This record gives sequence, structure tokens and C-alpha cells, in this order.
Amino acid sequence: MKIFGIETSCDDTAAAVVEDGVKVLSNVIASSIDMHQATGGVVPEVAAREHLRQISPVVDKALADAGCEWKDIDAIGVTSSPGLIASLLVGVNTAQTLAYIHQKPLIEVNHVHGHIYANFLERKTPPQFPLIVLTVSGGHNELMLMRGHHDFVKLGETLDDAAGEAFDKVARLLGIGYPGGPIISKLAEKGNPDAYHFPRPMLDGDNELNFSFSGLKSAVRREVEQLKKSDDQTIADLCASFQQAVIEVLVDKLALAVSRHKVKEVHLAGGVSANRLLRQMAREKLPDKLPVYWPVEQIFCTDNAAMVAGAAYYSLAH
Ligand code: KG4
Ligand code: ZN
Repeated sequence: MKIFGIETSCDDTAAAVVEDGVKVLSNVIASSIDMHQATGGVVPEVAAREHLRQISPVVDKALADAGCEWKDIDAIGVTSSPGLIASLLVGVNTAQTLAYIHQKPLIEVNHVHGHIYANFLERKTPPQFPLIVLTVSGGHNELMLMRGHHDFVKLGETLDDAAGEAFDKVARLLGIGYPGGPIISKLAEKGNPDAYHFPRPMLDGDNELNFSFSGLKSAVRREVEQLKKSDDQTIADLCASFQQAVIEVLVDKLALAVSRHKVKEVHLAGGVSANRLLRQMAREKLPDKLPVYWPVEQIFCTDNAAMVAGAAYYSLAH
């Protein structure tokens, strides 16, 4: 079964064709990231206008790259929430129009669930349930128990900023560019993670599996305001110390969730799952025998439409 996926929830205009939820036949992404670099974050109005410009060529290319015609496509999947409303509308209207013209079923996909289905793309073996997944990106930060396809129980979420958002905001504070995650993790390679001691906001009681990163971001701001010098080494040390604090919190909460549920697999999904330290610490801190997965290809970590087509397939097929 071939599904055509469309994703426009933030700043990436994406379309893809995926076979049986696993085999990626095409995966086209046009990003308006350059236009958001000056502002250090996505401007919704700018993102929506770029989607309008890009959506038709991206759709055409995804179909052509897959070597398909519309008659070969079984259904259309589209991200319908959560996301920037003007951006979502471009993708949803396009998908509705294509579904109507070509007489295909239309499947709405939740963006966070899409990120989780990115982890099953191009995987050689089917996922083993139940599993726990940490979805961390710029817009969301959730711990979920997945009992079967599209059977999710939310275990925890952020009470304020998502981890990716914290990376982006700290990068803006340091004036080192956007998006912050990849830039901070690169600079952190040359920094000392013990140079600054930033808080590890753990929360307890009913919030034990929830997250909060706004205090950590403020702690970095206070440190930056007091800086006497801002040479390359100081910036690298700040990046390494901040990254260490975020990742320790993410992995500690993940390990706590895993200790409470008997699961067969653990997954890291979403933009921040590209982070090397997160992958390494998750492997180190979780029980040895428990397999830890992340997207097979780096391009499946951040927003893409193959993940949407994958999630849509399992809505239809299960
Ligand atoms: O999934 P995504 O493309 O968009 C949302 O749904 O939000 O994730 C983008 C986020 C950004 O906040 C970016 O800074 C973060 O993922 N990110 C990273 C890394 N690569 C991307 N964060 C930490 N380390 C990385 N290597
Ligand atoms: Zn996303």
C-alpha cells in the first residue's frame, strides 16, 4: 500500500511517498529556515507564505521521485495538528483537494505521532510493543507509552518549554544562530560540560515524569549577562554545560519511566533525537538488554512527510 504524506506544521514544506509504513520511495523537504535565521525563530506569517509558494512543486517532486502516478497511490495522509495554524491550513487544504480530485481516502495525522512513526521507517524488523518513546523537538516534549499501533498513553510532558525550544532560545541568547540544537551540540564538542553548573530541573510528586526547561534557560541568561568575556572557549563551555543539563534531565526521566513499565523497546524521536549525547546517555543509563532506537536516517529526526505517510498507513492498516 502506497501512502502520499504531506507535512506543513512549522517551517518545512514536505511531501513523501511511503510503502507499507516502512519503505520510503520519496522524501522531499523545502525548508524556509534561511528566512527565520535573522529572527532566531520561526515567524508564522513568513512560514505560511513560503508553504504557499512551495507546496505545489514539492508535491509534484515527491510523486515523480517515487516513480508514481496518482493512480498508484492508495491514500493521502496529512498533519492536521498540532502546529502553526496558517501553516497547517496550507497542507490540509492541499491534501483535501488532492483527495477529492484523485478520489483517495484522506487520513489526518497528529504531528507528534508522526515523529514516533519516523522511527519505524526503513526499519528491518517490526516494532515490539509495548514500548516507551521520548519525543523531543522544538514544539513538543513528551514521554509516551505505546501499547500498539496508534495506542498511546501519555506519561509526561513539558510544563513550559520543549527541550528543542530551550536549545533554540539559548542559541539566540548566545547569538550563535538558528536552529540552536545542531549548532550548540557542535560547539559543545570543544567545551567543558562541568565549566558551569546549571540546574537539572527534575520536579517531583505528580510531576515526576513532566519536564520544565524555562528555569534552566533563565539560568543560562543570568550567566551570559554576567560574562566578562565571550571568547570561543567560553561559548563552547556554556554550550557543553547547558547541553549536559538538558540531556541529563531527559535521560533521567526516560529511565524513571522505563523502570515503571515493562517494555520491549525504547525510542528517541523528534528533532532533538539527532543529538549525539542524548543517544549515548540513553544507551548508557538504560538497562543493557533493552534496545534503544532512534530514526534510521538523520533526515527522519526533524520534520518530514515520510513520517506522516508512515503514521497514516498504520491508521488504515490496523
Ligand atoms: O522535529 P523538529 O524538526 O520540529 C518540531 O516539530 O519542533 O525539531 C526541531 C528542533 C529544533 O528545536 C532544533 O534545535 C532541535 O530540534 N534539534 C536538535 C538537534 N538537531 C535538531 N537539538 C539538539 N541537538 C541536535 N543535534
Ligand atoms: Zn516536528
